[in-house]
Amino acid sequence: SEVYPNVHRNNHYKKLSSDDLEYFNSILSKQEIMYTGTGNNLQELDLYNEDWMKKYKGQSHLVLKPKSVEKISLILNYCNEEKLAVVPQGGNTDLVGASVPVFDEIILSLNNLNQIREFDPVSGILKCDAGVILENADNYLREHDHIFPLDLGAKGSCHVGGVCATNAGGLRLLRYGSLHGSVLGLEVVMPNGDIVSSMHSLRKDNTGYDLKQLFIGAEGTLGIITGVSILTQPKPQAINVSFLAVQNYEAVQKVFVKAKKELAEILSAFEFMDQRSIQLTKKHIEKDTPFPLEEEYPFYILIETSGSNKAHDDAKLETFLESAMESEIVIDGTIAQDETELQNLWKWREMIPESSQCQGGVYKYDVSLPLKDLYSLVEVVNKKLVEADLLGSAPKPVIAAVGYGHVGDGNLHLNVATRLYSKEIECTLEPFVYEYVSSKHGSISAEHGLGFQKKNYISYTKSEPEIKMMKDLKKHYDSNGIMNPYKFI
Ligand code: FAD
Ligand code: MLT
Ligand code: ZN
Repeated sequence: SEVYPNVHRNNHYKKLSSDDLEYFNSILSKQEIMYTGTGNNLQELDLYNEDWMKKYKGQSHLVLKPKSVEKISLILNYCNEEKLAVVPQGGNTDLVGASVPVFDEIILSLNNLNQIREFDPVSGILKCDAGVILENADNYLREHDHIFPLDLGAKGSCHVGGVCATNAGGLRLLRYGSLHGSVLGLEVVMPNGDIVSSMHSLRKDNTGYDLKQLFIGAEGTLGIITGVSILTQPKPQAINVSFLAVQNYEAVQKVFVKAKKELAEILSAFEFMDQRSIQLTKKHIEKDTPFPLEEEYPFYILIETSGSNKAHDDAKLETFLESAMESEIVIDGTIAQDETELQNLWKWREMIPESSQCQGGVYKYDVSLPLKDLYSLVEVVNKKLVEADLLGSAPKPVIAAVGYGHVGDGNLHLNVATRLYSKEIECTLEPFVYEYVSSKHGSISAEHGLGFQKKNYISYTKSEPEIKMMKDLKKHYDSNGIMNPYKFI
């Protein structure tokens, strides 16, 4: 392929024929099929073929958008018999090239499977189709005094099924835990078309293996999630956001320890950003969002509290901030006074991904590291890029290597913002970053997954027996390998 010179189409997969199209047309309506023919009008499908970072692009001519679980079952059964490869796709906000085809795989979009099924306000359990957009699910829940137990910058596009398929972590994992805990049941269509459902409303169920866990984080390689049953949380009555500046990464850790102790049960997010992240974001959003602090501090922290009593939470946060500033761990700080200020403060954090990507390209590394080593990766990568003479003003290709992330979860995001995608940058960063993370006994993917980007690097984090077990499972449930091929498995 011209697009991926080192990856070749596997001829075990059949190429789409007119008979196949005839079959899909016989089971789906016009609104459920997008086909570009064999001509050059592929750009009509760019939204489905190309990823959010504009880094990965497939060449599929066919997008199927079935409106029912039964139709998905028929499609997979047919594709399995015919050895047609399939890429499940939610909101296409994935950051590791997992959600788009590599060659001509059929794209199976969940866009049309988007109904809330039921909500029980007593238990807080929501059941919905996989294609419900996360923000729509959250808005629906808010009308019922609840919230979705996961929030992330892509909420306006990503699907409930998509976040389960990637086991997304997001901004409040520290408070509400991972989807491995909050998802109570899934409905999944297996590659042979079988529908396997555990869509119950039980907090506890110890009857043998917890099979749903297999599909949470499987990145669409084992089956298609069509329904999700999830434990949601009561809507907090009071939310506060504070933005702080500190002198060094040591201080970030000190503030984290202090926040856990003093804000305790009301702490709902603890995010950090380095100066370069803020500088990059400022360039992108400054027109509508004034910066709350001096711009030249080395590190910034966003703390969110969510509780049930506003006066109580305000007092706690103010006392916390006063004592942090008195002891000089925190050198500057602000607390949002109203909802607009609160949203603006969050913007400084949530806009970092877009700000890093918008000037040409971005190389993203999403790693888990022991907290004491978390920021060291950003320092060594900056040094490496300077040594390679790649970082600086144009015509140097790298704009900045910035660090931010979910300190509360030991999860660093290193974004290398570039003016273009180039093999030279990629080879400078990889496998260097993965070797560094492995040397510190970290994980090369904390929350974004492996996808296409990290498919060759899984062994930096998983052992041979673990990889073999994954391959055995894949072989057993997807013996024709039709589900999301060329990705990590
Ligand atoms: P897609 O991108 O469409 O697909 C993702 C993967 O899941 C693919 O492998 C796809 O094949 C598979 N898939 C999708 N739907 C299904 C299904 N129904 N059944 C089976 N497989 C399926 N991630 C975090 O963890 N934390 C964050 O804070 C975070 N913030 C983000 C902020 C921005 C601005 C962006 C662009 C992304 C962010 N992400 C974050 C990345 C994250 O992985 C996605 O936003 C989200 O989890 C993917 O959901 P999606 O519906 O877009 O899935
Ligand atoms: C985030 O925390 O902002 C997300 O994981 C997305 C990203 O890092 O790009
Ligand atoms: Zn993240």
